Amino acid sequence: VIELCRAEGWDSYLADAARTFRALTASGAITMVAMRGGVVCGFAQILTDSEIRAYLTNVAVSAGSRRQGIGTRLIEEAFARAGARYLDLLSDPGAEALYESFAGYRRVQGFRIYPSAPR
Ligand SMILES: CC(C)(COP(=O)(O)OP(=O)(O)OC[C@H]1O[C@@H](n2cnc3c(N)ncnc32)[C@H](O)[C@@H]1OP(=O)(O)O)[C@@H](O)C(=O)NCCC(=O)NCCS
Repeated sequence: VIELCRAEGWDSYLADAARTFRALTASGAITMVAMRGGVVCGFAQILTDSEIRAYLTNVAVSAGSRRQGIGTRLIEEAFARAGARYLDLLSDPGAEALYESFAGYRRVQGFRIYPSAPR
């Protein structure tokens, strides 16, 4: 999974493998991996309250395994286990086509806020 994150430049997941493992397996986190030939070729992580709301926090498929339905399957399987009524997400522009391929979706405005120095 860390190698997939490295390929996407998701630096937050690279610095500390133990921290990444804790993040992916934390309470309320559901992480699915897709395996091909004993190698992880995709993963998706959802954070959920197990009742109503869930967030898709990550989905990535290795470059050689794309357009074979793996990303869709990862999201569907993780969402099925999330026990939530709907799934929110922030999208990179390159992934919009994947989310638009789902039968039901609605576009909403989003923000990502980073911690700042104390004022
Ligand atoms: C986005 C990503 C996870 C898609 O995974 P995938 O396994 O290729 O997706 P799927 O095969 O399930 O695609 C399902 C449908 O989504 C749409 N889609 C997916 N990728 C697409 C692309 N690059 N261009 C156009 N449509 C695309 C298509 O409708 C596709 O169905 P089709 O192949 O029958 O036409 C993968 O491209 C990836 O890892 N990208 C880099 C990481 C990333 O951007 N992650 C999302 C961060 S928000």
